[in-house]
Amino acid sequence: MHKVIYDTDPGVDDAMALLFLHRHADIDLIGITTVFGNASIETTTRNALFLKREWNIPAPVAKGASVTIDPSRKEGAWPTFVHGDDGLGNIDVPEVVDVPLDPRPAYKFIIDTVRANPGEVTLVAVGRMTNLALALKEDPDIAGLVKQVVIMGGNFYVPGNVTPVAEANIHGDPEAADIVLTAPWQVVVIGLDVTAITTMSRGYLGEMAARGDKAVQLLDKLSQFYIDFYKHAVEDGMMVHDSCACVYVVAPELFTTISGAMRVVCGGIADGQTIVKQDGRRFPPGDWDDLPSQIACTGIQSQEVIDLIRDTL
Ligand code: BDR
Ligand code: CA
Repeated sequence: MHKVIYDTDPGVDDAMALLFLHRHADIDLIGITTVFGNASIETTTRNALFLKREWNIPAPVAKGASVTIDPSRKEGAWPTFVHGDDGLGNIDVPEVVDVPLDPRPAYKFIIDTVRANPGEVTLVAVGRMTNLALALKEDPDIAGLVKQVVIMGGNFYVPGNVTPVAEANIHGDPEAADIVLTAPWQVVVIGLDVTAITTMSRGYLGEMAARGDKAVQLLDKLSQFYIDFYKHAVEDGMMVHDSCACVYVVAPELFTTISGAMRVVCGGIADGQTIVKQDGRRFPPGDWDDLPSQIACTGIQSQEVIDLIRDTL
C-alpha cells in the first residue's frame, strides 16, 4: 500500500488525479495539501474541500502557500483561460464549502505526517513546489524520511508550455523547484516529455461518465472547459498531466526513465527551465557532481496509462 500526500492546485487535471488517488486500491491517500497555481490559494483550497465533500474523500485538507518562496518574485495572472475562473471549469462551485480544514499550514502537515510515518510516505506534487520547499527549509531531515517524491513538472527534451523552455508548475516557483530537485531524497519527474503525449478524448471521458458513476459525471462536467482550452494542441481532448504522476506511483513499468543531477534556471530568459546532467554522459567534473541523482521520465505507454485511469475511476 502506498501512503500518499497529494500536493495540488485544483485545477481540472488535478481533480482527475485526486479521484484516481482516492479510488486506487493500492493507494492510501493520507493527506491533501493545497498550493497556489491554477488559481489563488483561496480558490484551490476551496476546490479541494469541494471535491473532498462531493467525492467523500476522508483525507484531511491542509492549506498551503499563497506566494512563491522568494517573495520578491512578481506573481503573474491566474490562468483562468485554462481552468476557468473558479479553477474547475466554471461549474459554479459554491463560494464557501463548509468542510473543516486541518489547522496546520501545508508544510507543517507534511513534516508531521512524514515524521509519523518514517520511510513510508510518497509525496505526489502536481502544482508549484512551494510547500515541499518550505517543509525542507523548516526541517531538512525529512528528506531522509520520505519514501519518494513524484512531481508533475518540467520538461527536458521537449518545449515548455508557458515559455519556450519552461513548464507551468516549475516556472511558477523556480526557486522552490530547485530546492526540491537538489535535496537528498528521491525525486521522480513526470514532465511534459510524457504528459503532453498522454491525452484523453472528450468521447472517452464521456463514455466513462455514461456508466453512471456520480463522481465521474462531475469530473466529466468540470473537464469540458479545459478540453475546449486544449483545442490548439489536442484533437477534442485534454492532457492528463497530473494523473500521469499518480499512475507512476502504482505502475512505474509504464514509463521509461533517465537519471542525473537536476537544476532549475532561476531568472533570465530561461527562467524556470529544468536541466538534467544525465548520468553516463561524459562531462568534465563540475559543481553538480555532489548533487543527488534524480529520475526523469522520458517515455510513457500513453494508452495503457489512460486505460488504467479509466479502470481505476
Ligand atoms: C501543470 O500545470 C497545470 O495547469 C496543471 O494542473 C498541471 O499540473 C501542467 O503544466
Ligand atoms: Ca496541477
